[in-house]
Amino acid sequence: MLLLLAAHLCAPCHAAIVEQYQTTGMARSSGKLDFAIPPATLTDPASGALYRIGAGHRMEFERGPVRGSRILQWFLGSGNVGRSFLFSVDGILFQAPVSYYSAARKWDISPGYEGKRTIQLARAVEPGCLQCHASAAQPEGGVSCERCHGPGQEHARTAKPAAIVQPAKLPPPRRDAICAQCHLTGVARVATANRKEATFRPGDLLSDHLAVFVWDTPEAGGVDATSHYERLAASRCKQASGDQLWCGSCHDSHREPAPAAKAAFYRQRCQSCHTRQPCTQAPATSDCASCHMPKGASRGVDHVAFTDHSIPRRSRPAAAPAGARRALRPFLPAPAGPRETALGYAIAAVTEPAVRRQAFELLRQAPRDVAVMAQLAQFYDRMGQEEQAMALCEQIVAREPGHPAAAVNLGIYKIKRGQTAEAIALWQAALARNPAMTGARMNLAVALWRGGEREAALAALRQLLRFEPDHEPAIRLLRELGGSP
Ligand code: HEC
Ligand code: HEC
Ligand code: HEC
Ligand code: HEC
Ligand code: HEC
Ligand code: HEC
Ligand code: HEC
Repeated sequence: MLLLLAAHLCAPCHAAIVEQYQTTGMARSSGKLDFAIPPATLTDPASGALYRIGAGHRMEFERGPVRGSRILQWFLGSGNVGRSFLFSVDGILFQAPVSYYSAARKWDISPGYEGKRTIQLARAVEPGCLQCHASAAQPEGGVSCERCHGPGQEHARTAKPAAIVQPAKLPPPRRDAICAQCHLTGVARVATANRKEATFRPGDLLSDHLAVFVWDTPEAGGVDATSHYERLAASRCKQASGDQLWCGSCHDSHREPAPAAKAAFYRQRCQSCHTRQPCTQAPATSDCASCHMPKGASRGVDHVAFTDHSIPRRSRPAAAPAGARRALRPFLPAPAGPRETALGYAIAAVTEPAVRRQAFELLRQAPRDVAVMAQLAQFYDRMGQEEQAMALCEQIVAREPGHPAAAVNLGIYKIKRGQTAEAIALWQAALARNPAMTGARMNLAVALWRGGEREAALAALRQLLRFEPDHEPAIRLLRELGGSP
């Protein structure tokens, strides 16, 4: 802690803030695993796999004859609710199949890993996890001062206030964008084309970087919305006060109130506006949030607002009424282009079959960049229109050799047409960019084997099993070829 303070760029002049901030969930949202974690043994009911968390942050796994271990090196999540863990193989970061859940005080299968038949060790960590939980490409250090205040070198050198972003002094859309970069999920977030800067910087408009889509349903009065930002936008407080109300009206970004001080802390925030017309149902000294911002029944690490930020008069039923989705609308006050809209629908269609047709039509009409063509190729593939899918994949790899999805699928189309050498080259290019794609490496191994290249096939299988030791087809083929892992 002392070392941390001494090394901190802002500590020489803002020591109190730096020290306070270290205690928040945001500051501790990712880092090196350099502390003890509770030991555990657990079985995945779906696969029957056994996991053991032991000394030295070692995660052992075992399913039938398959066994091995990984060292958990980094964590994501402060542990206020739960923690995910990362390990690396050949310099690639992977998410662990087990996570720690704080409320239940136990290890369990990670979100998205439930119901699998085999042990899953080859899922590379999504860049999005690190964009929200860390401040650089490495999972260290949590959310830094600079994620909300912008680059601080110049200000730290000169101590000039003008050289740093003070969020509260920004015009409201730019102020709100700072929290929204991580607290606005929507149904789909699509990176806009032609961005001046690749990454969002405090002071920017979020709409210059992202189009965020939400469902345009009548029920959208808060029940449907999942992220804090969307829910707050659905509140009467926000709708009636406009720019005056924002995340900073109730939250101090640098500190969390102590449990015993919470009720008073938030009541004071409510009463900064609700002075003249006090609550007709409760005294002015009551815990306003306990009735008007109720909490969900149980909390997982599923990125759903737990405290109801739509600030209802009376608690609403928690479940969204079922009904067919009709349309997406852009959430941010900026029109979304045809490309972004088409990509938004394509993302929404993954979980909402009712908009698949519309997504397909919009993709067909959208300007064709690599992202649009890659989505369109997948639609054609699923519709069984292989010629169209193939033509698009050809165009994509011509622009971007080794494009993961396009190169892998194009290889499959080629092999079906007897063009083995082309398929092998495509898969090798994709794997050079993204070595952990187990499906592509399996295809490659089979193609090499059929082409009589036994040694190369064995090498590909061994490489695959380094990442994914419980890959059944790879184990089977390896045995058939007389090799050992
Ligand atoms: C060398 C001393 C020094 C360092 C280092 C320093 N600051 Fe400051 N900072 C100041 C001074 C002085 C002010 C003006 C205080 C005032 O006006 O009350 C200030 C003001 C600010 C403000 C308010 C600006 C405004 O417009 O009101 C922010 C935000 C801020 N600093 C953030 C940071 C962050 C983040 C870091 C680390 C990246 C940092 N500072 C490092 C000296 C420093
Ligand atoms: C770089 C991404 C990022 C930005 C920017 C960001 N947050 Fe967060 N915030 C997070 C993450 C991640 C968590 C969950 C931390 C955890 O517990 O692991 C979080 C948690 C919180 C919490 C729960 C308490 C806590 O500290 O864990 C509050 C309140 C909060 N954020 C408010 C804000 C406000 C207000 C802003 C804008 C001024 C903001 N956040 C900006 C990522 C961000
Ligand atoms: C768009 C930003 C965003 C992305 C992307 C994101 N998170 Fe989060 N995450 C948050 C925020 C904000 C919170 C806390 C509040 C909430 O639940 O909304 C959170 C909470 C968590 C928590 C619980 C932390 C606690 O409070 O103890 C874990 C664990 C977690 N995320 C892991 C992940 C993993 C793993 C990924 C990638 C698969 C991921 N997150 C992707 C923003 C994000
Ligand atoms: C999650 C976003 C967020 C993070 C992270 C964050 N700040 Fe701030 N900071 C804010 C906001 C919002 C304000 C404006 C508060 C206000 O004036 O209402 C602010 C204000 C300030 C100010 C000027 C007002 C004051 O309270 O003195 C300083 C100085 C400052 N921050 C320093 C830091 C330092 C140093 C860090 C890292 C240790 C940091 N901040 C991390 C959001 C953040
Ligand atoms: C920035 C000012 C502001 C803050 C802060 C604020 N509110 Fe409001 N709130 C309003 C306004 C304005 C209205 C609309 C009043 C009207 O319709 O006459 C409102 C309406 C409400 C309503 C009626 C909702 C409905 O559906 O009719 C409730 C309940 C409420 N607020 C509770 C709270 C609570 C609890 C807090 C603190 C956790 C809070 N407010 C914080 C400004 C605010
Ligand atoms: C009217 C007051 C108010 C406003 C405005 C507000 N919050 Fe909250 N927020 C709360 C209260 C109250 C809690 C519950 C705190 C607790 O019990 O520890 C909370 C909790 C949270 C949490 C912790 C996870 C959860 O769901 O309990 C996060 C993250 C958060 N708020 C983010 C935000 C963001 C981002 C914004 C702006 C879009 C925002 N809040 C605006 C009052 C507010
Ligand atoms: C015991 C639960 C409870 C507590 C605590 C509570 N309220 Fe209420 N409040 C209600 C209910 C229920 C209503 C709706 C009354 C109705 O619909 O006629 C209400 C109505 C309101 C309204 C709308 C008033 C109107 O006539 O339009 C506001 C604003 C409000 N509360 C603010 C607050 C504030 C601020 C606090 C904290 C000082 C608070 N409430 C504490 C239960 C509570």
